[in-house]
Amino acid sequence: MNTPTCPRRVGILTGGGDCPGLNAVIRAVTQSLLRQCGAEVIGIEDGFAGLLCEPPRARRLDWDSVSGILLLGGTILGSSNRANPLASQAATALALANVRRLGLDALVVIGGDGSMTIAHALAQQGLAIVGVPKTIDNDLYGCERSFGFDTAVATVTEALERIQTTAHSHRRVMIVETMGRWAGWIALEAGLAAAADAILLPELDYDLPTLARHCQARLLRERYSVICIGEGAKALGGSATLQAATWPVADPAAGASAPPRLGGVAHLLCQQLQPLLQAEVRATVLGHVQRGGSPTPFDRVLATLYGNQAAQLLLQGHFGRMVTLSGGQLGHIALAEVAQQQRTVPPGHPLLQAAQQIGVCLGQAEPGQTLFYA
Ligand code: F6P
Repeated sequence: MNTPTCPRRVGILTGGGDCPGLNAVIRAVTQSLLRQCGAEVIGIEDGFAGLLCEPPRARRLDWDSVSGILLLGGTILGSSNRANPLASQAATALALANVRRLGLDALVVIGGDGSMTIAHALAQQGLAIVGVPKTIDNDLYGCERSFGFDTAVATVTEALERIQTTAHSHRRVMIVETMGRWAGWIALEAGLAAAADAILLPELDYDLPTLARHCQARLLRERYSVICIGEGAKALGGSATLQAATWPVADPAAGASAPPRLGGVAHLLCQQLQPLLQAEVRATVLGHVQRGGSPTPFDRVLATLYGNQAAQLLLQGHFGRMVTLSGGQLGHIALAEVAQQQRTVPPGHPLLQAAQQIGVCLGQAEPGQTLFYA
């Protein structure tokens, strides 16, 4: 059944923070490879951590082990955003040795920017690798939509809607903090979808007096105000809000390192805004609920397309590439281009323009512009 370009044994791993749709990709890659060329699929456990231990942690994925997982959140393989094969030469050598030990002739890496940077480096060492863009943050360079994002936006939108009713009852200003790291996509799309009064993004430092004026006017007009803020946002002249790590770096020998942990800007903004407003200000940090649960139909389909496309790239011998969606079309991009880059909300993006034009406050002082209801 094997074709000349068909890999015999393919490894697959899920790296970085989890998100809805990972299992859908695992299922599509496995089923596509099993059906099309009968390759053996080996699931590596806990992301790159599974390649950085002796012996490597991995198990065979057959048809039965991936059937029924399309709807499941999380990842049946486990994930880690600490283990890094690039942390030292020894870690890189161990990861490569374990790939050989497992007899893999190709590897599918499902992950975000950190995982793609690792995948690129391993590809440069001669490994046949294909990447699949995963992250609720939607910040992968060269790809207009990572799977997991749509589900996170749906979760945040629902949360914002729920917050609105209680905000109205109590005449409050409610601040809702989303994830997204240094990209404001989640806050922007969910904020627009739920009619937030203000949307604050890491890409646009907010001007506190402008925001306070907007909220006060809205309070007078409609009793309440809801602000949706991305975790990486900051006030003009301020800096991003980081949380202290609560879990020690796991295993330095395995190249573990903890990325900076964002979070808490909603509470900071609460303190900043309260003295400027004549209503109670409260903060809600949505946190990991945004990463959990069953993927939306859109994410199930996108993840399935991505998984199948990854299998096609393997069969065609296109390595060192990441699957993409661009202009609504499936494609692929060199890992070299994706590595170390991020896709943040660019100035003048149509969503920003629309938000501004319909009167959503983006925290920007606009000289000469007065609010029509001020
Ligand atoms: O990158 C996905 C993400 O959920 C970010 O939005 C968030 O800042 C980070 O991961 C949280 O990671 P952890 O679960 O390791 O704290």
